[in-house]
Amino acid sequence: MTVDNIVPVILAAGKGTRMHSDKPKVLQAVLRRPMLAYVYDALDAVFGAAPLTVVGFGADQVRDAFPDRTGGFVLQEEQLGTGHALQMAWDAAVKSGCEYCAVINGDTPLVTPESLGNLAAAAGDFDIAFMTITPNDPASFGRVVRNEDGKVMSIVEAKDYDFSIHGPVTGEVNAGIYLFRLDTVAPLLDQLRNDNMGGEYYITDLIGLGVGGGLKVQGVQCGNDTNLMGINSPLELVHAEQTLRRAIVNTLLEGGVLIHNPETVIIGPDVKVEPGAEIYGHCEIYGKSVVEKGCVLGSYTTVIDSVFRSGATLREYSHIEQADVGPDCIVGPFARLRPGAKLHRQARVGNFVEVKKAVLGEGAKANHLTYLGDAEVGGGCNIGAGTITCNYDGKNKFVTSIGEGAFIGSNTAIVAPCTIGRDALIGAGSTITKDVPDGETAIARGKQTNLRRRLKKS
Ligand code: UD1
Ligand code: CA
Repeated sequence: MTVDNIVPVILAAGKGTRMHSDKPKVLQAVLRRPMLAYVYDALDAVFGAAPLTVVGFGADQVRDAFPDRTGGFVLQEEQLGTGHALQMAWDAAVKSGCEYCAVINGDTPLVTPESLGNLAAAAGDFDIAFMTITPNDPASFGRVVRNEDGKVMSIVEAKDYDFSIHGPVTGEVNAGIYLFRLDTVAPLLDQLRNDNMGGEYYITDLIGLGVGGGLKVQGVQCGNDTNLMGINSPLELVHAEQTLRRAIVNTLLEGGVLIHNPETVIIGPDVKVEPGAEIYGHCEIYGKSVVEKGCVLGSYTTVIDSVFRSGATLREYSHIEQADVGPDCIVGPFARLRPGAKLHRQARVGNFVEVKKAVLGEGAKANHLTYLGDAEVGGGCNIGAGTITCNYDGKNKFVTSIGEGAFIGSNTAIVAPCTIGRDALIGAGSTITKDVPDGETAIARGKQTNLRRRLKKS
């Protein structure tokens, strides 16, 4: 069940100066996935309306990265502050027909649907609500000011905090996630001023303005919930990454995946690992990878957007990207599977073998020092050490097709396009430039001559 009377608004226009990067901060990746993707996921789980996304710095990059996840992009041409960002989105929020908007900083990727649900629960009873946390270090977060009765009075940004006016700090700070009732908060928007230390229009000033205007304001306390900490710097980013990494690994361990040396294993949020799989650290698995039961992934392996079907083994120091590894296959050590590599059941790819856009049939073997690119290798084939499919003439790529049961001798170069028939045999050291019919033997190498050796007399 999603909440229907609240339209989410993501503030994603800032540069993220403290990241020291040309990339817009919301595109910085946590476990190789942009922060903003996490925010969309959490919002979609709670709210029925598609979020409005305020973009500015690197707007085109953000638009291109998420063409279909937003209810619309709003351009904040000049980034004059979070309050200004909200002003830019306000009309679109009103047009949504919702009663409230939920505003979230785009740099808060670990926010959970549960905490967003708690915020949404304030709708109906309050005009303004916002989430607060009490982290160990209040750092640069906005300070929540309450009166003696514990009633929220305002949020004061760290650099504007004045002890003589605002009193001693409590440690409670603003998480940057807010709920605003559109009709009652609208008149406050024009009252935002930028006469503060940052010289910016702060969204957080709406809290004090709301209290002053007699609106009902709630600070939803979430204790020391580190998932709600915004990311501003590389240090904060890796902290969030570690938190998420640990949570993912622990969940998998609890679910029956055997993960050795778990502190050194990194598994992305979209990866699926079935109970009964076994993973040795250091191992990194990212993207939409799937690891089925009975698979063993060895140390120092990287797997990206790939599938390991049941019982497959990946040995040490292998790099796998956009590959499909069939049941009971053995890959590595030191293997490289590139996009389009597809291995059928019990195929074997050994050390220093590179496979790109190539299919290996059931039980086919390429065990040593080989390049198979743009190739179809039939079931049961044996590809000798040092075999190369010469697939590229400098301009175009060509296909090599090898029939079932063929035996390719060591150090063979097959110049594509080329078809080797079923059960054909290629002599070691051949350079094959013509098709080889089914069941025939081809040898294409210089004849050996043996000459008497002249030895120097001492
Ligand atoms: C903000 C809050 C602070 C809170 C903290 C929580 C303000 C003034 N302060 O501080 O109280 O404790 O978040 O993490 O809001 N953005 C725009 N347009 C702009 C400026 C920023 O869209 O003109 C976006 C940024 O891309 C970012 C978000 O707003 O996603 C927050 O901006 P940021 O500069 O990170 O604010 P903080 O200093 O962290
Ligand atoms: Ca921030």
